Amino acid sequence: MQQAIAILDSGVGGLTVAKEVMRQLPREKVIYFGDTARTPYGPRSSEEVKQFTEQIVDFLIQFDPKVIVIACNTATAAALDHISQKVDIPVIGVIHPGARAAITATKTGNIGVIGTIGTINSGAYTAALKQLSPYINVMSQACPALVPLVEQGDFRSEHTRSTVSESLNGMKDKPIDTLILGCTHYPFLMEPIGQVMGPHVKLISSADETARETSTILYDKGKLAIGDETPVHQFFCSGDPVMFQSIARSWLGEQIRNTPVVWHVSKL
Ligand code: DGL
Ligand code: CA
Repeated sequence: MQQAIAILDSGVGGLTVAKEVMRQLPREKVIYFGDTARTPYGPRSSEEVKQFTEQIVDFLIQFDPKVIVIACNTATAAALDHISQKVDIPVIGVIHPGARAAITATKTGNIGVIGTIGTINSGAYTAALKQLSPYINVMSQACPALVPLVEQGDFRSEHTRSTVSESLNGMKDKPIDTLILGCTHYPFLMEPIGQVMGPHVKLISSADETARETSTILYDKGKLAIGDETPVHQFFCSGDPVMFQSIARSWLGEQIRNTPVVWHVSKL
C-alpha cells in the first residue's frame, strides 16, 4: 500500500496547500483532515490549539503516512516543535516556507504579514523572517474576520469584499511590496485582497513553497511515490461534510471524488 502525505488544518484552509501538493506531486496520495467543527483556531489559546493538533495527528498517524504537513499557520506556530518531537516521520509547517517565499519575492525588504490572532501574537513570522535576514522590516496585522467567510464558502460577495477591505485598513497604506497571506484560508480571498492592496504588492501564499519542501524531503528520504496509478485522495472533516465537499470541489475540482468522511472530534 502506498503511504500517503497527511495534511491537516482547522478547516478548509489547508486545501490551498493540498492543491499545490497534488499539482507538484501528482503520484502522491493525500489524506486530508479539516477540523471544521472547531474552526476557527485563530482566537483560541496556543495550548488549546496544540491539544487539538496533537489529537488530529494521533488520528492521522493510524494511516501510516510518510510525512505530516501542518497546513495551518496557527497550528504551526502553536504545535510544530511539539509534534515534530512526538512522531518519527517528518513534520512540515507553513511558516518557514511562507517566510522563504516572501524573502525571495521582496525587492525593498518591507514585508507585510496578515494572519489569525494566534499567528500574529506568536510573532512566529517575524522570527522566521529575521532568522533568514536581519534587514527585513515586518509589519503585521491580525484579520480575524476572514476565516469565517471562507468556511461559509463566501469568497466574492459584496459583504466579503467590504470585510476584506476593513480588515486590511491597517495594512493597505503601509510601504510594503510583499504581503504574506499568513493563514492558509486567505488564498481563497486572493482576488478581493489583491484588489484592496493594489498591483504593486505581491501576495505570497505558503502553498507553493510548502509543497516544494514536501517534495524535497520525500526525495531526500527516497520516499517519492512510484508507478502510474492515479491516487485516490481521502478527506475527513469534523463538521458539516456537505459544506466541506462543496468548498473542496470548487477549489480542487476532480481531485475530490468521494464524499468526505466525518470524524467527530470526540471520537478522535
Ligand atoms: N488556516 C489556519 C491558519 O493558517 C487557521 C484559521 C483558523 O482556524 O483560525 O492559520
Ligand atoms: Ca520527529
